[in-house]
Amino acid sequence: MGLFSNKDIISKPKNLINAKEMVKKAYEGKYAIPHININNLEWTKTILLAAEEAKSPVILGTSEGAVKYMGGYKTVYGMVTGLMNDLNITVPVVLHLDHGSFEATKIALENGYTSVMYDGSHESFEKNYENTKEVVKLAKKYNASVEVEVGSIGGEEDGIIGEGEIANPEEAKKMADLGIDFLAAGIGNIHGPYPKGWKGLKFDALENLSKACQIGMVLHGGSGIPKDQIQKAISLGISKININTELQQANAKAIWKFIESGEAKKGKNFDPRKLYASGITAMRETVLEKIEELGSKNKA
Ligand code: 13P
Repeated sequence: MGLFSNKDIISKPKNLINAKEMVKKAYEGKYAIPHININNLEWTKTILLAAEEAKSPVILGTSEGAVKYMGGYKTVYGMVTGLMNDLNITVPVVLHLDHGSFEATKIALENGYTSVMYDGSHESFEKNYENTKEVVKLAKKYNASVEVEVGSIGGEEDGIIGEGEIANPEEAKKMADLGIDFLAAGIGNIHGPYPKGWKGLKFDALENLSKACQIGMVLHGGSGIPKDQIQKAISLGISKININTELQQANAKAIWKFIESGEAKKGKNFDPRKLYASGITAMRETVLEKIEELGSKNKA
C-alpha cells in the first residue's frame, strides 16, 4: 500500500466538455470557435492561457500524428487536464481528435477525448456514411461531439498542391441527418500555406452546403485566409475554424530571429525556457489575434 491513492490525482475538469453547445451557440450568434492544433506542452499551455485571457471557448485539436509525437492519447489527456487544473483555466475547453481514422476515433474516446472528427473523405461516400453512423453511435455513449467531412480539403502532398473537392450539398444533408454536430466540407480551402494564385473560398458552395445541412460548418486550413473571407465565411455558417500552420509559422519565425540575432548564444540562453520564450510570446499574440478575428472573445 502506497501513501497515495492514485485515484483522481487529476480530476477531469468540469470545463473540459464536448463542442456540441459551444459550436451551436457560435452558429446562432455568427462567430466561430477557434480550433487550434497542439504540438507539445508549450503550445497547449500558451493556447489555454490566451483563451483564458480573452475569455474565449477553445478547441484543442490533435491529429493522430501529433498524438504519436507527444507520446500517446494518455499523455495528451494528462497534459491537457493537468494544465487546466494547475493554471485554473475556467473557459470551456474541448479535446478534439482532428482527421481521425475510424479506429482512432474509438481509441480517442476511450482515452477521454470529448470530441472527434472521423475523416472518411478518402473513402466512397457510402463507406464514409456507414462509418459515420457507427462513430455517432459510439460518441453518444461518451457524450462526445462528432465532426465528419464531405468533399475534401486541399493540401500539399509530395510537393503537389491539390485543390480539394467541393462538397456535394445532398451528401452534406445526409450526413447532418445522422446526428453529427458539425461538418467539414471542401470549399476551396487548403491545409498549409495558401499558394500564389489561390482562387479563394467558394462562397456559393458554402452557402448551398450551409442551407442544406443547417448545422455549424467547419473551415479547415484556417491559416492565411484574408480576414474579409473569414468574416464572410462566418456569416454564411462557418462556426469552427481550424488553425495550425499560422501558429507554427509565428513560433518558428520568432525562434529563428532569436537565433539569427546571436542572442541565443549569450549567457544561459541555451536553457530551453529561454530559447523558446520568443516563440511562446509570438504564439500567444497569434491566438489572441485569431480569437479577435473569429469573434469568440468574451463568449466563454
Ligand atoms: P492549417 O494548418 O492550414 O491552419 O490547417 C489546420 C487544419 O485545418 C487542421 O485540421
